[in-house]
Parts: sequence; structure tokens; C-alpha cells
Amino acid sequence: MGHTHRIAVIPGDGIGKEVVPEGVKVLEAAASTFDFTLDFERFDYANAEYYAQHGKMLPENWFDQLVGFDSIFFGAVGWPDTVPDHVSLWGSLLQFRRHFDQYVSLRPVKLLPGVTSPLVGREPGDIDFYVVRENTEGEYSSVGGKIFEGTERETVMQETVMTRTGVDRILKYAFDLAQTRPKKHLTSATKSNGISISMPYWDTRVEAMAARYEDVRVDKFHIDILAANFVLHPDWFDVVVGSNLFGDILSDLGPACTGTIGIAPSGNINPERRFPSLFEPVHGSAPDIAGRGIANPIGQIWSASMMLEHLGETEAAAGILDAVGAVLARGGASLTPDMGGQATTAGLGDEIVTQLTGES
Ligand code: NAI
Ligand code: MG
Repeated sequence: MGHTHRIAVIPGDGIGKEVVPEGVKVLEAAASTFDFTLDFERFDYANAEYYAQHGKMLPENWFDQLVGFDSIFFGAVGWPDTVPDHVSLWGSLLQFRRHFDQYVSLRPVKLLPGVTSPLVGREPGDIDFYVVRENTEGEYSSVGGKIFEGTERETVMQETVMTRTGVDRILKYAFDLAQTRPKKHLTSATKSNGISISMPYWDTRVEAMAARYEDVRVDKFHIDILAANFVLHPDWFDVVVGSNLFGDILSDLGPACTGTIGIAPSGNINPERRFPSLFEPVHGSAPDIAGRGIANPIGQIWSASMMLEHLGETEAAAGILDAVGAVLARGGASLTPDMGGQATTAGLGDEIVTQLTGES
């Protein structure tokens, strides 16, 4: 009998409530196929109904409730009709990211079979890399302020904060990841020509870290041409690491180069495992299609695969991704409407389970 992993399940709002059960279904199938145990506990907060009842997104003791879990399997939060987006996001997801020190935001950029890339002529195998984003400091600091507000001398400032600890730990994660990959290639996003203090510092730390990874090939691009090269030459990349702002932009651009938002997954990771990491699809709660049972569950299911990878269930993680790839490659009516099919959310989830467990 394999390991037992304790998973906190938080569906959130909108289609989060529809795609999370599909993710759980696939995880349960993976556990029985690959012989390990998942112990799920569901939490019905971080959603608009909870906010309507309690005037806040989370209970006071959320940290104590969640800190003992091995991972958090999250759907999406946001219901702008009743809760302003900054309230729902800062009141839940961003609390998890900060208090659980999930300093790595990890997004695979992989063109799967059966998915048409918006980049003409690209096929599966051409695009297969990771974006690693620093998730706690950098440009997204609250250091700064305003003076002379409302006068002609109105002045605003906001500082970038880079700490050696913060920069080195994200670089170490990215280099370690590169080392596990066949190409062993790391690309750093910089802008040391324009941002003349913090970005040269970032470059210096990349050089220092590179000296400890002699088998990893390293290059760097300024962020402007790097963005262009994501589109022109996505086959150049293997692991791309960037500061909070640069990583934010690249981690939307990358997945956009590989098809629909409905399939893109992400991890918010605390690599030392002092706290639970959180896995969620890239997309939000999609109020425009919520409640109709037509949301694409693949972003959630691929996030489940990333979670199992993090938990050390490597075979099961690969098994899920293979099953998703096989169902996508068959295409046709078994896909959801966003991919041109007619399937329901649950129908596509079932199809992936059948593929995974080999009952077809
Ligand atoms: P969104 O990702 O929810 O939707 C954008 C568009 O993509 C919509 O037309 C939607 O129908 C479509 N879409 C998204 N996921 C899909 C899926 N699985 N299958 C088929 N179509 C899909 O982004 P939007 O509309 O900007 O935000 C809606 C709410 O979600 C807001 O409250 C926002 O704050 C929140 N949000 C939450 C995130 C999170 O929890 N991490 C991330 C992004 C947005
Ligand atoms: Mg973003």
C-alpha cells in the first residue's frame, strides 16, 4: 500500500464548483490505479455565499484548519456581481499564497495533442517548457506612497524589493527544475538595460547560481524581446524564470501560445514543504458560463496532475496527463464547447477517468 496524502479541497465560486469535482474524480481514479491513498476534506469558504453570510471570505482560524494538509486543491474565486474582485482575491487566495509562503508560481507551457496552437504550424513537441515566477516580492511590494495628493506636485512612488533570500530561492527552484529536464536549459528574464539597479542585481544572482549548476545551460533575454520570442520561437525554451512582474506576464503569454484558457494549470508552491502548496487552474470562475455544466475541466484535471507530481506520485501524475492527451487527440464530440465539442463538464471528466483506468 502506498502513501496517504491529505488534501484540502476548496471549490470556490462559479465553475470552480463544477470543475473541482471532476478533478477529484480523476484523482480518486489515479489513487486506485497507482495504489496510494488520498484523504480529501472539503471546505466551503472562499466563495460569495460564505461572504454574504459572514462578511468575509475566510473564517478566523483558516490557517490552523489548512496548515496540516499536504496540498490544497483549489477551483477559482470571484463573483463580481456580489463581491468586488479585490475583496474576494485578497480575502482568500492571496492570503493562502502569502501565509503559506508559496513563493513559486509554476506554469507548464505545453502544447498537447489535439489542441490547435494560435501560433501557425506549431505541433506538440514544439512547445514544452515551464514558466517559474517569483510570487512574494519584486515589483509587487507595498513599499511606497503618495505626497501632495490632489495638487500640482502630486507624487507617487512604488519600490521594487529584491532580497538575496527571495531571489536566490526562486533561482534555485528553477535551476533544480532545469536539471531534471532532458534539455537542462534555463532562461532568465531581465531588463538590466532599463532598470539599472534591481535587474543587474538579479543578473548577478543568476550568474552566481549558475556556477553551482555546471550541467545547466543558461541564457537571458530582456523581457521585451523575450515576450516576442515566446511567440516567434517557443521551441527555444525549457525553463524560464522571472521576477514577480515579468513572471506574471510570461505566465499568461506562455499558456496563451498553447491553446484555450480552459486547459491551463498552475501550482503555487512552497518547495520546502513547510506549508501546503496550492494547485489550481489558470482560469477564473467564469460567471458567463457558470451553472450550465459546460466548463472545460481539463485545467483543473491537469492541476491535479501537477499536485501529484509535487506529492511524489510521479507515475500517477504522468498517467493523468497521458489520459488527457489521449482524449484530446481523439477530439470531436467528447470535448467541451470551448474546444468545439458538445460534451458536458462531467462527460469529459468521465472520458478521462475511463482512459486513465484503461476500462475503454
Ligand atoms: P475567467 O477565466 O473566469 O473567464 C474568461 C473567459 O474564459 C470567459 O469567457 C469564460 O467563460 C472562459 N473560460 C474560463 N474558464 C473556462 C473553462 N474552464 N471552460 C470554458 N471556458 C472558460 O476570467 P474573468 O472573466 O476575467 O474573471 C471572472 C472571475 O474570476 C472574476 O471574479 C475574477 O476575479 C476571477 N478570477 C479568479 C482567478 C483565480 O481564482 N485564480 C483567476 C482569474 C480570475
Ligand atoms: Mg496573471
